[in-house]
Amino acid sequence: MEYLKISCEFERHETRASLDAEIQPLLDACIEATNSAYAPYSSFHVGAAVLLETGIIIQGNNQENAAFPSGLCAERVAIFYAGANYPGVRIIAIALTARSLNYTQGEPVTPCGGCRQSLLEYELNQQSDIPIYMISPSGAVVVSKSIKQLLPLYFEHSGKF
Ligand code: THU
Repeated sequence: MEYLKISCEFERHETRASLDAEIQPLLDACIEATNSAYAPYSSFHVGAAVLLETGIIIQGNNQENAAFPSGLCAERVAIFYAGANYPGVRIIAIALTARSLNYTQGEPVTPCGGCRQSLLEYELNQQSDIPIYMISPSGAVVVSKSIKQLLPLYFEHSGKF
């Protein structure tokens, strides 16, 4: 028997001011995207933004449905739009935020498991890490340098061990 351990590293910035200027518009874009979320069932507005190597920023937000499982998370709306409309264009970074209409969201939210696997597909295909910036309404930011790091034991056909 072997004992295996996986560890993850993140940056936490108390405010977004300590992040590079090039990432600021991406943070703004994910915050703006929350305004168009369709979330009448949860009142939880999630915004995602994807920065492409061409400089284009794609916005996505959660789209809920009366048949709950038929809705889709913000991250997948954004990444699938990128894949559908800009196939093969490298993704430089992703930003994510959320705000509830019912309470004050404290810390940054992280992507759900399904979104991690979906985002990872694009990171693996482009063979370069995609950093993800997760910002709270108060402006605190947690950064993961890759999607892989958020999902170390991700599914792949070849197996992991
Ligand atoms: N949601 C996202 O958009 N992204 C996630 O990573 C997790 C959750 C959405 C789904 C649903 O519309 C709402 O947040 C409440 O769960």
